Amino acid sequence: MIERDWNQTYRDPQAPPWDTGRPSTQLRLLLESGGVKPCRALDLGCGTGTNAIFLAQQGFNATGVDLSEVAIQRALAKAQTAGVTANFICASVLALPDLGEPFEFVSDIGCFHTLAKDQRNAFVAQVTRVTQPGSVYFLLCGNAKEPLNPGPPTVSEEEIRATFGRDFDIEWIRECRFDTVSLPKPPLGYATLMRRQ
Ligand SMILES: C[S@@+](CC[C@H](N)C(=O)[O-])C[C@H]1O[C@@H](n2cnc3c(N)ncnc32)[C@H](O)[C@@H]1O
Repeated sequence: MIERDWNQTYRDPQAPPWDTGRPSTQLRLLLESGGVKPCRALDLGCGTGTNAIFLAQQGFNATGVDLSEVAIQRALAKAQTAGVTANFICASVLALPDLGEPFEFVSDIGCFHTLAKDQRNAFVAQVTRVTQPGSVYFLLCGNAKEPLNPGPPTVSEEEIRATFGRDFDIEWIRECRFDTVSLPKPPLGYATLMRRQ
């Protein structure tokens, strides 16, 4: 599999389809439902930081991690402009540095689904390493029932259960639509809420 150049994606003058500049609708709904209260939060594959900044604005102690240096620089600038305190770190979710105390909430708005299948176990090991029993992991990924081109990579419900079910109790999996700036049709997704065993 050819590794995608995420810096090049973010350097493109046309914003990538997911980079709406607005917090994820599904993340916002989760917070509005009272399902997660302010705590130490980690946004995996945070891109240009919109969701981590949103979490910080909602009272979370938020950290965003992304492989793309370009995206992280933009996230830092956006946080500064917004007058928000959030941490942004350029690192791979497959080899997270020491991030201190465990995170009680982890959000993943379109990161897991970009990984190759043979990276999934390493990814789960990293999420497990930076959380603690009871931590909540919120996953938004493309839905294999409706692959779109152009559109995000997709994952089946069975794959979600098989990948995470050994370490996480899956509280719910719901179908949803992705927010997008440019795609002709908002892609179908799975929003999943899980709790660390
Ligand atoms: C579809 S984008 C979503 C970005 C962001 N969550 C959002 O909603 O705007 C996927 C993100 O995952 C990041 N990514 C991909 N592989 C990664 C890895 N191994 N470690 C960290 N970030 C990664 C990419 O750089 C990209 O920013």
